[in-house]
Amino acid sequence: MKIFSLLGILFLVVSCKTATEVPKAESRGVIAENAMVVSARKEASQIGLEIIKKGGNAFDAMMATEMALAVCYPFAGNLGGGGFLVYRLNSGETGTLDFREKAPMAATKEMFLDETGKAVPERSQKGGLAVGVPGTVAGVFAAHEKFGKLPVSEILEPVIALAEQGFEVTENQARTLNYHREVMLEVNADSILFTKNFKAGDTIKNPALARTLSRLAKNGKNEFYLGETADILSDFLLKNKGLINKNDLAAYKAHWRDPIIFNYKDIRIISMGPPSSGGIVMAQIFKMIETYPISGYGHNSLKYIQVITEAEKRAYADRSKFLGDPDFVEIPTFILTSVEYLHRRMENFSFDAATPSAKISPGVVPGFEADETTHYSIVDTEGNAVAVTTTLNGAYGSKLYVEELGFFLNNEMDDFSAKPGAPNMFGLIGGEANAVAPEKRMLSSMTPTIVERDGQFLMSLGSPGGSTIITSVLQTILNVVEHDMTMQEAVNAARFHHQWLPDVIVFEPGAFDPVLLEELRQKGYEVNERNSRILGKVDAVLKLPNGILEGGADRRGDNTAVGF
Ligand code: GLY
Repeated sequence: MKIFSLLGILFLVVSCKTATEVPKAESRGVIAENAMVVSARKEASQIGLEIIKKGGNAFDAMMATEMALAVCYPFAGNLGGGGFLVYRLNSGETGTLDFREKAPMAATKEMFLDETGKAVPERSQKGGLAVGVPGTVAGVFAAHEKFGKLPVSEILEPVIALAEQGFEVTENQARTLNYHREVMLEVNADSILFTKNFKAGDTIKNPALARTLSRLAKNGKNEFYLGETADILSDFLLKNKGLINKNDLAAYKAHWRDPIIFNYKDIRIISMGPPSSGGIVMAQIFKMIETYPISGYGHNSLKYIQVITEAEKRAYADRSKFLGDPDFVEIPTFILTSVEYLHRRMENFSFDAATPSAKISPGVVPGFEADETTHYSIVDTEGNAVAVTTTLNGAYGSKLYVEELGFFLNNEMDDFSAKPGAPNMFGLIGGEANAVAPEKRMLSSMTPTIVERDGQFLMSLGSPGGSTIITSVLQTILNVVEHDMTMQEAVNAARFHHQWLPDVIVFEPGAFDPVLLEELRQKGYEVNERNSRILGKVDAVLKLPNGILEGGADRRGDNTAVGF
């Protein structure tokens, strides 16, 4: 591995930027010449990079990183969840893969309502009923089948070794495992591998997961959807009040879909379309703010926060009405992302005072996600790039753990709107377009994204954070292209978020000037920084003007960039 020395970095940045523009060398993230993997855990990033060093490409590394996260980051890494991939080949070809979970065939629109018609969040958030048909295994195998180079057995070898030999518990991990222990015990009605009293430095081995991965390495994707693993999983779910049976598993397919592509000033952004809301909502916000002098306002200044907040309110209001699974509902993407429509949406915005969310409705169009998700970005030696966001939804998903298979199951059913107007665990409101239906995919906010400039790859990024994913990705892109930050600075910078309802701007605690927050209050904004959760954990790769890669690994978690 060739990581540049400090002198090398100084030479590099001085040679590619003018003196006044040069970011301080120490503010750069990990620098690498050939390839980079940035993920939520050091072990997963290292295994992904090891596969590239063995001659694999970004898609081989995707399989390795995704499966390694399932071993050492069970908080969100998964076999029992789903996700989205956005890719850009070195030829410039782009595309996306949807491996989102879907509702089982026996799902009904009323399944999360009580006798009085009230939504019961417990049912969609914990235990068997909350589980959507997992898509992750179908996703990594579909990506590998189309673009991969190395045999699956070679890719999974280091992952199986990690599960057998164990991984080290970090401080963050000990805290979250201990925090969720009670509910894991309740949901599983017994102790499970992850309910011991863990402390940082402990080792967790998962031989059951090693066996599942070994069967996948031998039998391929069908092992999970038709084979012994499918038998164990469907029996387990039926015993745990789940609706998923063998037919649901057998019918699951990942889908290649067209990306959402749009321009913002001199960059071209390629992101995920429905059933994720990420690409459309982000395109709407970018287009609504494009005519304002964003960099002139200054990063996280009063006017900057106001204009982005107001665009966010309007975009999330549209999300609540128009977005859902495109295989089930017609989505007016063209209108929702058109400049004319979006400029009209901002006509009633003024810097003098907040537009209350109560006065913002979804737009008039003629005719018609937890925090606990994880993202990784990979660029390989050939210049192919992937951005992959994958999730169990809540932390450790439904908390339902298949001991015999070694993994947690998602609670993605909570991303449906149980009832129009009833908020999900992220406070997101949905309507008919995102109602539960058999075999339908629930609306997501995951926003894996690739950015180009002048027809060349510029950045690969994404984030966990439920409803805050879209705004975290948006602000990170703006930090680089409008505020001239390094990738690491852009990822580290303090973030804020508004999602229309509730009508409040959430700020990362302690990161914003109290005078600025008071000015916002004076203009009629409700401000919350005391109870705010982490707003995203962005993992990103930036290509510098001379072709060198910079990794940005979010300081908010154990995220790690590695490269060579
Ligand atoms: N489960 C979080 C999301 O898909 O947005």
